[in-house]
Amino acid sequence: MSTAQPLLQLQHVSISPKKSPSRLLVNDVSFSIEAGKTTCVVGESGSGKSLTALSVMGLLSQQLQLNTGKVLFNDKESGVQDIALLSEKALQKIRGAKIAMIFQEPMTSLNPVLTVGYQIGESLTTHLGLKGEALKAKIAALLEMVGIPSSRAGSYPDELSGGQRQRVMIAMSIACEPRLLIADEPTTALDVTVQAQILKLLDDLKARMNMGMLFITHDFGVVADIADNVVVMFRGEIVEAGSKAQVLSNPQHPYTRALLACVPDAEGKKDLKPIDYAWLPENNTQSIGAVR
Ligand SMILES: Nc1ncnc2c1ncn2[C@@H]1O[C@H](COP(=O)(O)OP(=O)(O)OP(=O)(O)O)[C@@H](O)[C@H]1O
Ligand SMILES: [Mg+2]
Repeated sequence: MSTAQPLLQLQHVSISPKKSPSRLLVNDVSFSIEAGKTTCVVGESGSGKSLTALSVMGLLSQQLQLNTGKVLFNDKESGVQDIALLSEKALQKIRGAKIAMIFQEPMTSLNPVLTVGYQIGESLTTHLGLKGEALKAKIAALLEMVGIPSSRAGSYPDELSGGQRQRVMIAMSIACEPRLLIADEPTTALDVTVQAQILKLLDDLKARMNMGMLFITHDFGVVADIADNVVVMFRGEIVEAGSKAQVLSNPQHPYTRALLACVPDAEGKKDLKPIDYAWLPENNTQSIGAVR
């Protein structure tokens, strides 16, 4: 592995619908992630966070295209590869094994008619060829690792709580010890206490496995908890990026300041004021002005 290179590097990534290539849903996005570090991508709904994540997985929908840019993944075996140029077959070898993703709503990602143990085992069999007792033992160990008794391996998703299902998703995602974990708002559907437990679990696993983490959220409380670096997106563009300390304590861009002004206060009360867009040049999305 070339150690000078970060684990993941997005370089000038732009995404548009195939039918209207000039409509940039993600516009010239560049940032990188180091092994063992968490980059949080924040921004309001529709700002392009999920599309950016999907491009890293090579999972953009058929209607969309990567217009420009590179998604450079630094892999121990293969060296630096541009994910955007890989075939579907090559991508399948990486997905789940080297780069894994946790989605927001576990019920839509888990198969209701298969036991959770079976579903955790699938990628272990596919990518690592595990079978029989070795497979069973690994599934049990993964369940325990995410705080679920291994006796629940035979349970179906609807027999588990929301928090347990999300833990199962985490067990599935880390099963093959990926180098990079992408989590797209993985705790939004959970209550605050469970959310805090899941965040701590992800943070611990990241440290233990020295994974890089790309964590998408619109919640600055989450950023404060787990980020090393922060990328702020607005209308498909990065408006500000930097270390957590820089972005949270000394935000430079008016959009970041406006987002931070909406963070709940110490008593947990939400400030229901809408985000202040006074800084935005009216009808002019070209001059948002990035700050780095
Ligand atoms: N298949 C598609 N075809 C056309 N436009 C799309 C498609 N998928 C997403 N978009 C648009 O791209 C923009 C960015 O979407 P994306 O899902 O990345 O937003 P997001 O930041 O993840 O938002 P949220 O916080 O709501 O999840 C949105 O305006 C969305 O409507
Ligand atoms: Mg999204």
